[in-house]
Amino acid sequence: MSDQNAAPSAAVDTAAQPAAQTVVQPAAGSAAEWTQRYTGAVMDTFGPPQRVLVRGEGAYVWDADGKRYLDLLAGIAVNALGHAHPTLTAAISAQLGTLGHVSNFFGTPTQIALAERLLELSRAPQGSRVFFTNSGTEANEAAFKMARRTGRPRILALEGSFHGRTMGALALTSKAAYREPFEPLPGGVEFLPFGDLDALEAVFAGAVDGAATSDIAAFFIEPIQGEAGVRSLPAGYLARVRELTRAHGTLLILDEVQTGMGRTGAWMAHHLPQIGGGVVPDVVTLAKGLGGGFPIGAVVAYGDRAATLLGRGQHGTTFGGNPVAAAAALATIGVIERDGLLASVRETGSYLREQVDAVGHPLIAAARGEGLLIAIELTAPVAPAVATRALEAGFIVNPVNPTAIRLAPPLILTRDQVDDFVAFLADLPTTAADLTPAEA
Ligand SMILES: Cc1ncc(COP(=O)(O)O)c(C=O)c1O
Repeated sequence: MSDQNAAPSAAVDTAAQPAAQTVVQPAAGSAAEWTQRYTGAVMDTFGPPQRVLVRGEGAYVWDADGKRYLDLLAGIAVNALGHAHPTLTAAISAQLGTLGHVSNFFGTPTQIALAERLLELSRAPQGSRVFFTNSGTEANEAAFKMARRTGRPRILALEGSFHGRTMGALALTSKAAYREPFEPLPGGVEFLPFGDLDALEAVFAGAVDGAATSDIAAFFIEPIQGEAGVRSLPAGYLARVRELTRAHGTLLILDEVQTGMGRTGAWMAHHLPQIGGGVVPDVVTLAKGLGGGFPIGAVVAYGDRAATLLGRGQHGTTFGGNPVAAAAALATIGVIERDGLLASVRETGSYLREQVDAVGHPLIAAARGEGLLIAIELTAPVAPAVATRALEAGFIVNPVNPTAIRLAPPLILTRDQVDDFVAFLADLPTTAADLTPAEA
């Protein structure tokens, strides 16, 4: 008797089909050939790729020529568990093999479980809710719309901020070179000097152009500015922002896209006493490390007021909350907990900063940051040259500005791997002049 509900046999169905070309064979080209093909086919928004990477394992990746690199950037704070982590891979495969996607007319247990986990990790009070996105910029876009729903026209952000590249997030991003080619951007955003308490007091005292403080919908803040060079807010700043925003009915929106999900050794950077001072925000945005490399973002709205700003039909997404992405996030969170990675991020991060500070190299001033979000400040504007040398020596780092190297490695980084990198730093040429010609 035939069972009409039985799944078709994959073996029978595919056996007669010609093999689809679904897997790119890395062996098919040298690094130079792949780079040329990239340039011919991919839009030139990032410049030519530094390397074409073909596989990864743990904290290492390999390029098309078979050379190995210690990945100290992790896809810019994304690959929390490193590359090809077996638990993450298995969770993604299992979910994809069970239920890969449904529309948001439907829920899935995986999505619901992830929302509940995020509320727990965020220490969010009763009435809090989550909205899922695919990226950091989309999470901030949703938060921007929440701010608009307060009915207030003004929004505050900080100089040096980076909140993403879509139009709303770009309006919150301070760098002129990113903004100007796309103006007019959504209006009403004002930038305050970074960490300046007097300017903060002034804006909430209504002392700036006499503008009404009751018009300030929201204040968007990164607890540590990542793209600006891993800059932490001065102690006490965020706590004072919280007092003032609460007193004036303004939403405090923390962008933890880069700093969240264990990167700093706490689930959220604002949970660290030295950063957050115990503040409870109204909204937190997340992405990057959340899915361990699988694209997913989230907005956590704290309490009833924030959680109900967006009503039915006021926001949406096709892919946000996709069960495969949710499974990736649940697996990532599970491994961070199971393997005690928050503690090891704090320990390995301190060790890395101590070792860099002790290296005694004339071009290296000091390391800063929290957990495994670190910048190495240099004594000369040679960060691009250092990054080039690092790549040649088998280390991926990011020259986040001319005088700083950013590190955001996998949370599984070991002390031995730190030692390898510090030995490379110690061996760098000792003058800017000796460093730069190699790059030319
Ligand atoms: C603090 C912060 N917010 C938002 C974004 C944008 O995230 P995405 O690139 O996923 O859109 C980034 C990306 O670097 C970021 O660092």
